[in-house]
Amino acid sequence: MIEIGGVKPKSSVFLAPLAGFTDAGFRGLCAQYGAGLTYTEMVSAKGMCYGNRGTDALLYTTPAESPKAVQLFGSEPEFMYRAAKDERIAKFDIADINMGCPVRKIVSNGDGSALMENPSLIEETVRAVKEGFGKPVTVKLRAGVRQGEPLVTECAVAAERGGADCVTVHPRYREQMYAGQADHELTAAVKSTLKIPVIANGDVVDALSFWRVKRESGADAVMVGRGALGKPWIFSLLNWADSLEDSFVYDGSGNVREDAVRAAAVKAHEIASHFDAKRAAREHVSTLREFLPDRTVVNAMKLHLCHYAKNTSNAKEVKLAVAASSTIEDTFGIIDDLL
Ligand SMILES: Cc1cc2nc3c(=O)[nH]c(=O)nc-3n(C[C@H](O)[C@H](O)[C@H](O)COP(=O)(O)O)c2cc1C
Repeated sequence: MIEIGGVKPKSSVFLAPLAGFTDAGFRGLCAQYGAGLTYTEMVSAKGMCYGNRGTDALLYTTPAESPKAVQLFGSEPEFMYRAAKDERIAKFDIADINMGCPVRKIVSNGDGSALMENPSLIEETVRAVKEGFGKPVTVKLRAGVRQGEPLVTECAVAAERGGADCVTVHPRYREQMYAGQADHELTAAVKSTLKIPVIANGDVVDALSFWRVKRESGADAVMVGRGALGKPWIFSLLNWADSLEDSFVYDGSGNVREDAVRAAAVKAHEIASHFDAKRAAREHVSTLREFLPDRTVVNAMKLHLCHYAKNTSNAKEVKLAVAASSTIEDTFGIIDDLL
């Protein structure tokens, strides 16, 4: 089982940071379904230093999450150090540094994936966060910037040199944003180069893709992002998938065996049919109301409700009702009547 600088996650399947989605309510549900480690969405180091409104909400957690990671973004070692030292993040077990965000507003400030063009700054940044945080520090990387020009191994080596305890590889280039396929041969290259553990991220949406990514990358753990939206139960499925013997899952050539594919379909159906979306959504809302005003909760739940309703017969109705919702009563109405 993966260990990150002495931190022992509950399983080897983690929930990825997803800005706008991985709020404390959603993270708590995923943790209950077996996510071994959860990450906050990215939090601005400078924003923390300048007392930005909104930061505290991003840092809110519930006891369900344990262990838990906070993700910081920024590229000025001094601000990263100060943010890492901030007592508001002392409750987290791990501090992760975002070096993958492709969004122009972030990159143009030298943050997120812009760091991948400057390995010596990666090293310095990791060192600064380690010094400030005093606990394990991890880094989340992409394949590189321009398609076909991988930078990830060099950057991962720089992170390791700076003292990183683990790296996550999302092997898409910045140019690709979230389109195309993740190339987990690049994750495998990182895994075979580093001494610290490596987490594979990208395109895991079910047991089959989980098995493929694990095999292709050789990584120590797998991180799931979009595949968890509306389906916090996916962690239960993937922990099951992870518990099976390799000889049951793979044939002699490393391909997933038909028996395993069939078993996974049965298991997914069983777990999904036990999922009570109404109850999950109510719990989600109730956690958000612990730290957000109702009008913010209504907005935060809009996309989540659509995801909870996805692939149900009410998906369209939920979309329409969500678009028209403006009060917490509207939100509860959708949950009670349509989920
Ligand atoms: C809406 C959205 C928000 C995201 N926010 C973050 C973020 O805050 N920090 C981060 O490191 N990655 C972020 N990502 C990237 C994901 O963590 C992940 O690397 C990517 O979605 C690939 O994994 P997946 O195929 O399992 O979704 C975001 C992705 C999406 C789609």
